[in-house]
Amino acid sequence: MSKSFKTFLKHTAKDFHNQSVNPPVVRASTIIFKSMQHLRKTQAKAQKNPLGGHYDYGRQGTSTTYILQKILTKLEESYHVFTTPTGFGSVFLAIFSVVRPGDEMLVADPVYSPTRILTENYLKEFNIHTTFYDPRNLKTLEKSITKKTKLIFVENPGSNTFEFQDLKKIISIAKRKKIFTAIDNTWATPYFFKPIKIGFDMSIVSATKYYSGHSDVMGGSLAVNKKVFNKVKLAEKITGLRLGPDDAYLITRGLRTLDVRLDRHSENAKKVASFLDKNKKIELLYPYKKNSLNYKMWKKYYSGASGLMGLKIKSKNPNSVTKFVNSLRLFGYGYSWGGFESLALHQEFRETGSRKYMSLEKNEHLVRLHIGLEDPSDLIADLKQALRHLK
Ligand SMILES: Cc1ncc(COP(=O)(O)O)c(C=O)c1O
Repeated sequence: MSKSFKTFLKHTAKDFHNQSVNPPVVRASTIIFKSMQHLRKTQAKAQKNPLGGHYDYGRQGTSTTYILQKILTKLEESYHVFTTPTGFGSVFLAIFSVVRPGDEMLVADPVYSPTRILTENYLKEFNIHTTFYDPRNLKTLEKSITKKTKLIFVENPGSNTFEFQDLKKIISIAKRKKIFTAIDNTWATPYFFKPIKIGFDMSIVSATKYYSGHSDVMGGSLAVNKKVFNKVKLAEKITGLRLGPDDAYLITRGLRTLDVRLDRHSENAKKVASFLDKNKKIELLYPYKKNSLNYKMWKKYYSGASGLMGLKIKSKNPNSVTKFVNSLRLFGYGYSWGGFESLALHQEFRETGSRKYMSLEKNEHLVRLHIGLEDPSDLIADLKQALRHLK
C-alpha cells in the first residue's frame, strides 16, 4: 500500500522493527560475532550491499543510526543519507569527499559563516582556492569557473540575507562543465524542497534544527546521489564523522512531527511577516512579497517556507535596534533555530569585510527571527511592544 510521507513519518518504527512503537537505542563500539567466519561473512555482505545496514564496528553506526538514515533517504528521495554529529560536520564531509589540493570551489557569497571561514581561510592552506559568487547574478558564478573548479557549494536561501537562487540554472551549468554540486538545505529541509531530485549531487541539512525540533540535540545529514556515494562513504570512514545512537534516536523522534511542526512554523511566520511588512523601517527578508525576485525563485522550487526570516532595519540609531531586540519577551536571544521556540539574534555581520556582494549600508542593521510554535498573536503583540523602541 502506498502511503503519503506524513503517514510514513508516524509509522517508521512499525515499518522497520515490528516490535516496540519506538526503535531501540543500540549503543555499541564492539560488535560480537559467533566466529571468524561470521565476521568475514558480515563484511562480505557489507561489501556487496553497502546500503544494507551491515556493520562490524560501532564507528559505522548501529541499527539506530541505520533506521534514521533509511527514514531520511525516503524523505530526501536520494540514493543514501549519511548522518554526522553536527550539521557543520555534514558541510565538511561534503567538501572533503570531492575536493583535493589544487582544486577550486565556487561558494555562494552569503553562505553560513563557519562554511565561509572553512572555505575562504582554512582550505586555502591546503591549496584549495574558493571564489565567492553573487547569488542574485549567476553570471558571476559562470565566469569564475576554471578547469580546476571541482565543486559548486550553494546555500539556499543565503544565511542572514535570505536570497533565493535559480537552482536549476546552477545545476545545468555544473553538469555542462562536469562540476560536483552541493547545497545547504537546512532552511527548508526536504519537506519543502528536495535538492537531489532536481539534480544536486549532495544535500546538507543541520538536523540540529527542524529535524530534531526541540533544541536538545545536534546532528547533520548529507543526502547523496549514486554518483558520489562511494566518495562520501570513503570520506565518512576516514574522518570518523559518525552520529551517536542517542542523538540518532532523538532526531528520529523529532522527525515524527516534522510535517506538523513545519506547517505550523510556516503559518505563524506568514502571519508575523504580514505584520512586519507594514513597518516602514523594516525590509522583510522572507519569501513574502509576491512581485519580488526572491518570491518568484522560492515559488519555482519550494512547496513551503519555514520559520526563519531576516529583518533589514534602517535606523541611524543602532542603540535603538539593540533596545528593540532586548525588549522582546517571548523571543529567546541565542544561536541556532528550528526548535519549537521563537528566537531573535542581532546579526553583527562581522564577516562583512570579506563579503564581496552581500554587505550592509551604513545605517542598515540585520536582525534574525525564528518564528516558533507559540500563538502568533502573542508573538505579534510582543514584537509590537518591542518595536516602539526603534528610532
Ligand atoms: C544554514 C546552516 N547550515 C549549517 C549549520 C550548522 O549546523 P550545526 O549547528 O548543526 O553544526 C547551521 C547552524 O546554524 C546553519 O544555520
